[in-house]
Amino acid sequence: MLDIDQVIAEIDGAGTLEALEALRIQYLGKQGSISGLLKTLGGMSPEQRQIEGPKIQTLREGATTALAARKDALETAALDARLAAETIDLSLPAPASPRGSVHPISQVMDELAEVFADLGFAVATGPEIEDDWHNFTALNMPESHPARAMHDTFYFPDRNDAGREMLLRTHTSPVQIRSMIETAKANPGGAPLRIVAPGRVYRSDSDATHTPMFHQIEGLVIDKGIHLGHLKWTLEAFLKAFFERDDIVLRLRPSYFPFTEPSIEVDVGYSSTGGRRVVGGSGDAPGHAWMEVLGSGMVNRHVVTAGGFDPDEWQGFAFGIGVDRLAMLKYGMDDLRAFFDGDVRWLSHYGFSALDVPTLSGGVGTPV
Ligand code: DAH
Repeated sequence: MLDIDQVIAEIDGAGTLEALEALRIQYLGKQGSISGLLKTLGGMSPEQRQIEGPKIQTLREGATTALAARKDALETAALDARLAAETIDLSLPAPASPRGSVHPISQVMDELAEVFADLGFAVATGPEIEDDWHNFTALNMPESHPARAMHDTFYFPDRNDAGREMLLRTHTSPVQIRSMIETAKANPGGAPLRIVAPGRVYRSDSDATHTPMFHQIEGLVIDKGIHLGHLKWTLEAFLKAFFERDDIVLRLRPSYFPFTEPSIEVDVGYSSTGGRRVVGGSGDAPGHAWMEVLGSGMVNRHVVTAGGFDPDEWQGFAFGIGVDRLAMLKYGMDDLRAFFDGDVRWLSHYGFSALDVPTLSGGVGTPV
């Protein structure tokens, strides 16, 4: 029979982890001597087993505990030795690893959603593959309406199951219709609605200031007693917050869109410094000019009806803004096409750190 004190002394004396492992195998491995003793228990008489069993068990437990303790001690000693021997030069530059950045359009979309959230607008979305009813007809542009032609639409060869022509949406305005229908369904009789719908839109158009895919953000408010004053205040509050300037001056010009009546185009005053346009001040001031930034108006009765609301009870305003143009203006980029070339050098120059998102917009603050 093995002597437990001798076994433990031997384990405690192991000088390296390798020597310790050899001892573990010698005693507790498959062919180990303690394992061998355990196997003899099966062949013993019950009386003998009662006497020998606890002894062998004590031996096994003693060896296991001693092995673990010695292993711990040897590992700690090894770590201490490494810590004492090795040094780290914290002044060495860290190896550079490539870091992605947030595309200016994504950044500006976030900023827009944030500013409009402050004004009580929820974000709504709709499909980029639309049917011509949502994209045109419901927006008061029936088939053969001349305004359809202005949109240079990408059509699909096949119609959908309802027999409607399918296309890449030419603007975010169909989300107006989808949101109204959804709201009217959930609340028969109607309910107030305040949404913005940012997203991609498509037109067959390509030059220095047009790309076949670009971005818009649509706004829609439906409520009772809504008038032009609400529209003007909202746009002013939005533009001031987005450009983070109090001196934004708007000019409202009469225009025409089939889905609004009256329709209004909104310009902002700006000046040019060092070839860069800076928004602010009246466009009529010396050295200033006006720049169109968005289309808007009071929602046409036909559109309110198409959305499932009673136009005698519910009114609203809507607006559509080119997001790419806003991004260029705010961050001083001058070539629209570079936005979508996917050139990593451009992105690392104009992109935003993911850690800063959101946001660079000032927010609307407390209206006074
Ligand atoms: N959908 C228009 C376009 O793409 C922009 C627009 C104008 C949207 C007036 C509106 C609006 O909601 O009221 O040219």
